[in-house]
Amino acid sequence: MPVLRQLRERFAREQPLAGKRLSACLHVTTETANLAVTLQAGGADVALCASNPLSTQDDVAAHLVQDHGIKVFAIKGEDHDTYYDHIRAALAHRPDITMDDGADLVGALHMIALNRLDDLAPPVRRWVETLKPAERKALVGGVIGSTEETTTGVIRLKAMAQDGVLQFPVIAVNDSATKHLFDNRYGTGQSTLDGILRATNLLIAGSTVVVAGYGWCGRGFAMRARGAGANVIVTEIDPLKALEAQMDGYRVLPMAAAAPLGDIFVTLTGNVGVIRLEHLRAMKDGAVVANSGHFNVEIDLEALKREAQGPVAVRDFVEEWTLAGKRLYVLGDGRLINLAAAEGHPASVMDMSFANQALAAEYVVRQHAALNREVYRVPGEMDQEIAGLKLRAMGVEIDALTPTQQKYLASWDMGT
Ligand SMILES: NC(=O)c1ccc[n+]([C@@H]2O[C@H](COP(=O)([O-])OP(=O)(O)OC[C@H]3O[C@@H](n4cnc5c(N)ncnc54)[C@H](O)[C@@H]3O)[C@@H](O)[C@H]2O)c1
Repeated sequence: MPVLRQLRERFAREQPLAGKRLSACLHVTTETANLAVTLQAGGADVALCASNPLSTQDDVAAHLVQDHGIKVFAIKGEDHDTYYDHIRAALAHRPDITMDDGADLVGALHMIALNRLDDLAPPVRRWVETLKPAERKALVGGVIGSTEETTTGVIRLKAMAQDGVLQFPVIAVNDSATKHLFDNRYGTGQSTLDGILRATNLLIAGSTVVVAGYGWCGRGFAMRARGAGANVIVTEIDPLKALEAQMDGYRVLPMAAAAPLGDIFVTLTGNVGVIRLEHLRAMKDGAVVANSGHFNVEIDLEALKREAQGPVAVRDFVEEWTLAGKRLYVLGDGRLINLAAAEGHPASVMDMSFANQALAAEYVVRQHAALNREVYRVPGEMDQEIAGLKLRAMGVEIDALTPTQQKYLASWDMGT
């Protein structure tokens, strides 16, 4: 991760996060370890919890605690209560800055701020109830700003800002070009296929893969599935994205029409109930269903559990259900399959995502007094800086504008 390494060297010299407590809720992977160490090098006192119950690499968590003295609250396969007890621990760190992937940490802080304690998961609620009102106020009021990694988190935060309840400024790291163009598209594209292959060892060539959602993640995964020889069907609700998929050469169908055709289904929409019981019923015997969107709500597994027989664990991360006499295989319990069954995105792409996170944290410290309670993009010059560093690290050179070109691009009086 050469971009992050250069930032770490600068952070170690300049200490931009000195004296700041930072709580991060991220997938606990090797790449996140590099980010945590970078933040620590910049002077931050870091606590880390998982942003998904299945996405922790336990050896990485242990390494951060043992070799770097970073507080880590995460274990792969944690149950719902443990997951939220770890969120509680990250909040009990009393952060000045929070860093989220899916807004679970910030979501809990906002339920505390709005006194909606019934909406908190029990382990968080029980702890908050022991705090005095002034302590609760200090907990939320102490946060000078936050950063958010993923599409789903940014959608939630923009909804909070829209409702006028956002308590502090947030930097939407996902909205940086050097994040979503590469992480969501090439990272998710490759690692989702990797997760499916590691879980199932199926041959992709000649199979029909149904991709729900043609956003950044869906585009990337559709591209990689086609590259591996699949016939790809795309489902969408947005006419522009559907048109783009059609012109990119995919077959576009509603899910109801795609359901009987697919061998492998993958949801990447950030939406709820995308594959429902009527779709599951219509699928072929042996169909495989997986999700790579942020939360495990895209496939209606509750309905499947109600109506189907099973599950039978046939391999790690593969459960067989029998519905209407047909076998269906659900991967990774409907959670992000690239993190559940594989290792998430490769380091090379997370280099840029986490460079954005590190720079966004520095930006929050430097600029928070001038920011409102809104969702901000990472400033454009940071995007350019990260892209430039990445190109240099890859040994790629590009041209520079000549003075004549600069003048031409800035003028309107030169025509035919
Ligand atoms: N697996 C990973 O590692 C990873 C990485 C990045 C983002 N994500 C998550 O993946 C999800 C998608 O992210 P993105 O950046 O591609 O978002 P995006 O907004 O670019 O794309 C989502 C697409 O889904 C479409 N959609 C919404 N509802 C639909 C429905 N019912 N049927 C079909 N299509 C529908 C939207 O029209 C949109 O085109 C989010 O939850 C995001 O947080 C996962």
